[in-house]
Amino acid sequence: MSDQYQADKRRRDALRRMGIDIWVRRQPVESSAVEIPDTEAPAPTARDASLAAPPTPAAEAATAANGDVAAMDWATLEATVAECTHCGLCQGRTQTVFGVGRRDADIMVIGEAPGAEEDRRGEPFVGRAGQLLDNMLRALGYGREQVFIANILKCRPPRNRDPEPEEVAACRPYLARQIALVQPAVILAVGRIAAQNLLDTDRPLRMLRQQVHTFRQGDVPVVVSYHPAYLLRSPADKAKAWDDLKRLRERLPAGAEVHA
Ligand code: URA
Repeated sequence: MSDQYQADKRRRDALRRMGIDIWVRRQPVESSAVEIPDTEAPAPTARDASLAAPPTPAAEAATAANGDVAAMDWATLEATVAECTHCGLCQGRTQTVFGVGRRDADIMVIGEAPGAEEDRRGEPFVGRAGQLLDNMLRALGYGREQVFIANILKCRPPRNRDPEPEEVAACRPYLARQIALVQPAVILAVGRIAAQNLLDTDRPLRMLRQQVHTFRQGDVPVVVSYHPAYLLRSPADKAKAWDDLKRLRERLPAGAEVHA
């Protein structure tokens, strides 16, 4: 059997593990790959406009306290995150969830915040949603250990509520530094909260998925897709998630696929 056959088989198997019916899902790759030109981009929203407004005192304090984060190496950054008390979430955490994976990965996955299990284990995306994320990555030819996985927040919000703006502001320098250190070819933002906070917008996920964005600090392409926890509840949307992954695949360096 040829290498190509083996590679195709591995991808079909990975897609099956994602729960995608490969016989009915069909959309031209080209259509998902097209970037929407600026002229067709949706009008700026209230939150986009608010970005031009002066930062809140909490955001200013967080920025000042994190002023030197942008120069940190991995070891200092990890130790600083582990001891962070810049927002109230430090009071309820078991531990911080820094992120895992290759520190020179092609792909950086960014989720929302640790849940209960992640808080206990100190690792992002464990549990069923994590397994589905692993399968999504495997469909691209990547093992979990070959990407870098992090969250917008490093601490678990109580009862898994949405992150507050102050919490995001306090954590943002850490994530920005992680992105700068990894220098991924592409970021995969999973879920509305991750995408909106990473891209500083309040556009809905459905619109954010339509184009490849840019993380401003570092000029890194950002592909937006569904959160794996959502896909577990709405498996019919897995085919659309696969379209997103194909869009991401186009941003990878040639020959980067590793056949996990
Ligand atoms: N959901 C996330 O967004 N991140 C995790 O680490 C776990 C669940």
